[in-house]
Amino acid sequence: MEFNVKGIAFSKENLATISIDDLKIGGISPAHLFIFIKEKPFLMLRAGDLITAEFIEKYKTKGLSSFYNLPILNEESKDHFVQKFKRLKSSRTRIERKKSVQEIYQKFALSYWIESEESFLNFAMATYDVFYSLPDSIIEELQAKSQILYARAILGASIAVMSALMDDIDDFQYIQDLYNTAFVMDIGLIQNGDFNYLMAKACEFERNHPGTGLSWLKSHPNNTYEADIFYKHPEASLKIAKKLEEHFHYPETNDYILYHHEKTDGSGFPQGLSFSGLAYNEVYLMLSDYMVPFGEHVFQARDGYEVIKKSFESLLKLEDRYLLPINHLINKWKSIMKWYGIGEELKEENIFGEEIEKIGEAS
Ligand SMILES: [Fe+2]
Repeated sequence: MEFNVKGIAFSKENLATISIDDLKIGGISPAHLFIFIKEKPFLMLRAGDLITAEFIEKYKTKGLSSFYNLPILNEESKDHFVQKFKRLKSSRTRIERKKSVQEIYQKFALSYWIESEESFLNFAMATYDVFYSLPDSIIEELQAKSQILYARAILGASIAVMSALMDDIDDFQYIQDLYNTAFVMDIGLIQNGDFNYLMAKACEFERNHPGTGLSWLKSHPNNTYEADIFYKHPEASLKIAKKLEEHFHYPETNDYILYHHEKTDGSGFPQGLSFSGLAYNEVYLMLSDYMVPFGEHVFQARDGYEVIKKSFESLLKLEDRYLLPINHLINKWKSIMKWYGIGEELKEENIFGEEIEKIGEAS
């Protein structure tokens, strides 16, 4: 029998079972978890969701020992990324670090820059396991208060890691700080009120029409406190990050939060800084912010191509994209991913001929 539960399509034959004891508290779920009541599936946890102690206790108390699960994670793929990041951490020389970075580029491009079976969960979970160093309460709060902001934290922080790598950053500790900074960049949106429908719509409006989200919100008839929270959220998020200073190697990276809504011409907020006032690395969060939609995300096979390549293409097509001071970063992504992504673009352009075939064979 075919089922469709909250956007997840499957038949009972696709399901395996997983013991409740095999779920790692504080980790993120490698699979969609279901229970069946009278032959009807109920979704208990989605792939990518945080596994909390409360969740485990709740079902253990009810006498449950296992869940049905629809596996999404490809353990081998995730481990590949994890090993490369670990090698980046332990490498003593710049050459060794460069090699690890190149291998990450290659795997990333082959998984997400061309159409493949890969789920983005493989990369998202690898980066979460390797880099997340904030208290459990932070990720728990995001998940409890907004599935949208939770999904964006998980996806956006992992994309920020790639932005840094593509900008030739190979300092593990710095990349870790960047991951955790990106994770909390929008947490200020849930500090003084709900992240409601209007707020999500305004954020998505800003993402699709850079520079207009705040004025759209201000002029909306239902706006009461939303515009104020939206305007102040970079500062509110920064305030929270500053309280977590001990969890960062270089707490200065937290300041990037303040810049993620600034614009090339100085029309952004809260400071009105322009392109000339921003260093290249101070805008790493921005690319994530404009690539990841304000919507819930269902991890599934082949979603990685949508999360990365399709979102990147949409970003390129944005009207008034010049307002986002990330052109240099976009160009780096383009040239590096094109080199490793042996997909349709390169075949069409056929620039590097033989070399491309060699890369393909090596993979
Ligand atoms: Fe934001």
